[in-house]
Amino acid sequence: MHVLGIETSCDETAAAVVLDGTHVRSNEVFSQVALHQPYGGVVPEIASRNHVTYLPGVLEDAVSHSGLNWNQLDAVAVTYGPGLASSLLVGIASAKALALRIKVPLIGINHLEAHIYSAFLSHDSLAFSDVCPFIALVVSGGHTCLVRVDGLGHYRLLGTTMDDAAGEAFDKGANLLGLGYPGGPAIDSVSRGADPDAIHFPRSRMRKPGITGGLQHDLCFSFSGLKTALMYYMKTHFRDQMAKPAFPPEYLANIAASYQEAIVDTLIDRVRLAINREKVRSFSAVGGVSFNHRLREKLANLAESTSTHVFLPLQKYCVDNAAMVGGLAGKGQGVSGRSVWSLDACPNLEIGR
Ligand code: KG4
Ligand code: ZN
Repeated sequence: MHVLGIETSCDETAAAVVLDGTHVRSNEVFSQVALHQPYGGVVPEIASRNHVTYLPGVLEDAVSHSGLNWNQLDAVAVTYGPGLASSLLVGIASAKALALRIKVPLIGINHLEAHIYSAFLSHDSLAFSDVCPFIALVVSGGHTCLVRVDGLGHYRLLGTTMDDAAGEAFDKGANLLGLGYPGGPAIDSVSRGADPDAIHFPRSRMRKPGITGGLQHDLCFSFSGLKTALMYYMKTHFRDQMAKPAFPPEYLANIAASYQEAIVDTLIDRVRLAINREKVRSFSAVGGVSFNHRLREKLANLAESTSTHVFLPLQKYCVDNAAMVGGLAGKGQGVSGRSVWSLDACPNLEIGR
């Protein structure tokens, strides 16, 4: 079955054709990063307008690069949440029109489930049944959560962030350090070879049950205090240089590496706890932040020290893409049938609750 996947939940305009859920025949992504860079973050109105502009060309490319023609597609799948409402709507409206035009079923896909599935696109021989149950750490610009996966479609949310997402912490931190947007790749690259223990930034823990909406408090995250700690550090040490730090580059690198270390340690701490508590033998990390080199190093160490198996997506499947959407739909997941035609954008769609 050939599925055309469409992804417009944030600032990537993406389309892909995937055969039988695993074989990616094309994977087109138009990244809008350059359009949002001047504003230091994603501007929803700019994102949705550019999805309207670029999606038709991205769709044409996805189909022509797959070697198929429109009439050889068997289904159209689209992300319907979570994400930016106006951006999701562009993808949903286009998918509905296309599916009607080429007379194939429409499938609605949860973006978080698609991210979890992205790790399986990278490993031809890896099947869900090989690694279930496992813990998935979903870490992106908009989301940070821990999910127990017992099979395709069987998810249990274990923990989530109470404020900023990990990617947001990277982006806000990079902004304070004058490193530009997007902050994750910038901090990742300046931190290489720097001292991650130069400055001690806080590793937050949710200490009290009751405010985590029924989730175990010690499996939840909070990153807003860390960002504030960096802000005060910069204010205290570089009162006059907040806008454009003019201190030695190696010092900046050490601050960035120490900040990154605090984010990574917090993520690793929760994954370790989840592995032990849920007694699983495998885990994965997915989403834009899962490409971070320090996180990958520490995930590998964690796998070794707990005698577990870690599996990670390729870089092209870490960031938002449509292959994970078409792939998951090809495995029979998502909203389909009559109800899919009334599908609307669900900006706060959750997983496993
Ligand atoms: O998954 P993604 O493309 O979009 C969302 O669903 O949000 O993730 C984007 C996020 C951004 O916050 C970006 O700074 C972060 O992923 N990111 C990274 C790295 N590459 C992207 N964070 C840390 N290290 C990286 N190498
Ligand atoms: Zn995403």
